[in-house]
Amino acid sequence: MTVMPSFPQAREHSSLARAGAVLTIDLAAIAANWRALAARVGPSRCGAVVKADAYGLGAEHVAPVLAAAGCDTFFVAHLDEAIALRRVLPGPLRIAVLHGPLPGTEAEFLAHDILPVLNSPEQVAGFSRHAAVLGRRLRAIVQTDSGMSRFGLSRPELERLLAGDALQGLDLVLHMSHLACADEPGHGANAAQRQVFLDAVARLPGVPASLSASSGIFLGADFHFDLVRPGAALYGLAPQPGMANALRPVVRLEGRVLQLREVPSATAVGYGHTARTAGKARLATVGVGYADGFLRSLSNAGAAWRGGVRLPVIGRISMDSIVIDVSALPEGTLSPGDAVDLIGPEQDVDALARAAGTIGYEILTSLGARYLRRYVHH
Ligand SMILES: Cc1ncc(COP(=O)(O)O)c(C=O)c1O
Repeated sequence: MTVMPSFPQAREHSSLARAGAVLTIDLAAIAANWRALAARVGPSRCGAVVKADAYGLGAEHVAPVLAAAGCDTFFVAHLDEAIALRRVLPGPLRIAVLHGPLPGTEAEFLAHDILPVLNSPEQVAGFSRHAAVLGRRLRAIVQTDSGMSRFGLSRPELERLLAGDALQGLDLVLHMSHLACADEPGHGANAAQRQVFLDAVARLPGVPASLSASSGIFLGADFHFDLVRPGAALYGLAPQPGMANALRPVVRLEGRVLQLREVPSATAVGYGHTARTAGKARLATVGVGYADGFLRSLSNAGAAWRGGVRLPVIGRISMDSIVIDVSALPEGTLSPGDAVDLIGPEQDVDALARAAGTIGYEILTSLGARYLRRYVHH
């Protein structure tokens, strides 16, 4: 069944009437996705990655819904994200900062009950010194690098720390690493990283282990360890590119038609005159642009949809608007104020990302601040 984009309450609801575009975020779908992933990995536990404002969807809305679904471990990138999240996630829910402590911020981790992910010898030493100053053991997560060369202790660094006393003052509650190529199941790096991680896990016996994010979950139980850390899959992105997506879609983006025009054949459209109509055409100007995260790479490449009909972008994406060719719609069926789907049943986030030459992560985390956001709970 095709669901027509529409704004049924637009006349009654003034903010909806004013909105150039409406972003609808299905919180129930996010909770359902978390439950599906948790069921898949059980008895391993399932955390949630809510960094970058829950991938652009609003961490303060998303995280409490995940907590209500049963999630007790949340990951963000920066300490400030964690402090903001603590306001909506009471203890004992765990909030971890993937980037670890910048020098001098150790006390703030404790003040807000935030777990640092200690990635380097310097971060371990700094947190350990803080434990010594306080005269008590401090809880922390440690990350080892299993083959991504981004965050985490190398094996020699881990050995040096084990030989010294820097880890003594720390109560390690998790040992994590991160896969570089999990979205390519056949990539040799997956098994290689798992083996490197297993060897490191053996050097920290008794410390729960975590290797996989969304795609790694689908590499099988060997990759689940004690805790998985999905982000993308919670938000409906396909964890296995090229395969059917079992997760529920979370986001719908509807753009508003601002103006309609009929033009003759060979009419130039938009900045730079990069496109001309192939024949007589009906064009609609829609109120989203690259300032809203409707990426400029969608110029002459992306499309909107309405009632199952594809409406291609013609010309360049402007800052606040796009022009789409609506000739395929029956005449008189589209009016100013009507909605077209930019992300919806016919075009999910991953499909829009492919048209833009990027990945769904970038589309979600670029979603604009100007959209009217609607959160639905059913
Ligand atoms: C260390 C770490 N764990 C987990 C995730 C979540 O990954 P995904 O969104 O692919 O599930 C990320 C995302 O970048 C990450 O950096």
